[in-house]
Amino acid sequence: MISMKAPAALAVLLALFANPAFAADPAAGKKLARQCSVCHGRDGVAKDPEVPNLAGQSAFYIEKSLKDFRDGAREDRRMTLIVKRLSDEDIKDLAAWFASFTVTVKPPA
Ligand code: HEC
Repeated sequence: MISMKAPAALAVLLALFANPAFAADPAAGKKLARQCSVCHGRDGVAKDPEVPNLAGQSAFYIEKSLKDFRDGAREDRRMTLIVKRLSDEDIKDLAAWFASFTVTVKPPA
């Protein structure tokens, strides 16, 4: 078993998070999102009533949903096909991109 003192473990964690490979990159997400826009809309607002909006959705929820489709915990024939091609990094980048949209909500009076 690897035994590590807390400061050493913390240093490893910090090094991981400081590594650009582990940081979400919304610009990369924007490029990947071209393949999503046919269904989810270029602005992240879907026209098809079967398709959920992604604009302004939390990165946590987008990431969880994509991983659920990939792991089979959630099933949809369209999404299952799409997520097969996405790496963990792609998923983080896509989540960061759609989460960065500003959404204004106006509830009915
Ligand atoms: C062919 C159409 C299509 C494409 C392309 C597509 N999606 Fe979807 N997506 C759907 C549908 C339909 C659902 C709803 C599935 C369900 O009912 O569970 C969905 C659901 C989702 C959800 C869950 C949202 C929620 O509110 O639960 C996320 C996140 C998502 N898609 C992200 C993406 C991303 C990111 C891409 C591009 C890489 C993408 N989708 C491409 C059709 C599509």
